[in-house]
Amino acid sequence: MIYAKITGWGKCIPPAEITNDELSQIVETNDEWISTRTGIRSRRVSHVTTAQLATVASQHALACAGLTGKDIDLVLLATCSPSTMVANTASLVQKNIGATGAAACDTNAACSGFLYALQNATAQIQAGMIKRAVVVAAERMTWYVNWAKRDSAVLFGDGAGAVILEASAEPCGLLGTKTGCDSGDRDILHIANYGTDMDKYQPSGPSDLLFEGREIFKRAVKGMSEACDDVLSQANLQLNDIDVLVPHQANLRIIQAIQQRLDISDDKVMVNIDKYGNTSAATIAIALCEAVENGLVKPHSNIMSAAFGAGLTWAASYIKW
Ligand code: ACO
Repeated sequence: MIYAKITGWGKCIPPAEITNDELSQIVETNDEWISTRTGIRSRRVSHVTTAQLATVASQHALACAGLTGKDIDLVLLATCSPSTMVANTASLVQKNIGATGAAACDTNAACSGFLYALQNATAQIQAGMIKRAVVVAAERMTWYVNWAKRDSAVLFGDGAGAVILEASAEPCGLLGTKTGCDSGDRDILHIANYGTDMDKYQPSGPSDLLFEGREIFKRAVKGMSEACDDVLSQANLQLNDIDVLVPHQANLRIIQAIQQRLDISDDKVMVNIDKYGNTSAATIAIALCEAVENGLVKPHSNIMSAAFGAGLTWAASYIKW
């Protein structure tokens, strides 16, 4: 049996920061509303492209694994804010990291994108098609943000995280996975005025993030909790076998509700939404990286991760570190 071991990890956090107080100076909101409703206290805004964010995170992950781009067979980029649509953004990352022999492909499953990409790359390694992959999630969500609209302006941020997967005989990496999509309700979360269908909308600006927050909140809690249950039973695990929960960071209250449903204590949950807001596909990649850096994830840790996003896509993963 071939497994896809995670041998490297890295992130790229843009240095420019906008705190809630600073945001309150340009749109009618306040730190109290934002932090109590979402847990967000600050977010990062990138002045470089999505491809550049992805490149830096991938370079850190490669260095961590002791590899160079030449060793890589596949670059899979999860993003819903690509630098370019044609050619794909992954090809730019492939070029920047010198992975000249690698296939390169973008994956768009919005906030679930990193777990979708992890599943895809793991399956290719397990099938013997490739030996090493860069799975990177990078987002420049603030590019979509209309700073005059407080409902969405407070929620999003930019950043990137990456992992290296390598074929291994050691039973570790992604050992349980479930992905899905409730497309019937895809309209409750979308970006208008963007893409080749934009003539269907009345353009009101360069792009417009539209969402029904309360409905998404409920769906996210239910979707992520149920997906975790499915993956636990698939992997033949009990909840108390899980050492760390690395959830998508969309709202602290969503994370707490999942924790409650799954009965997981605070000390086992990775939370960084206060610093970065919702970086869509990148939240889990960055959170995983920081959970390793801060010692929450240790060698052989059992990690559960779950995501929910536009589509409405959802995913859960059991990762043995
Ligand atoms: N500052 C101050 N007041 C605000 C702000 C703001 N930034 N935004 C909205 N309000 C006001 C509203 O106008 C409303 O006022 P009213 O009662 O006078 O009409 C009041 O606050 C309550 O607004 P709601 O939208 O009902 O607030 P809610 O408690 O639902 O919180 C939130 C909104 C944070 C978006 C929540 O619904 C949520 O987190 N939803 C899930 C996450 C989500 O949708 N993320 C975006 C999609 S991406 C994803 O990751 C799934």
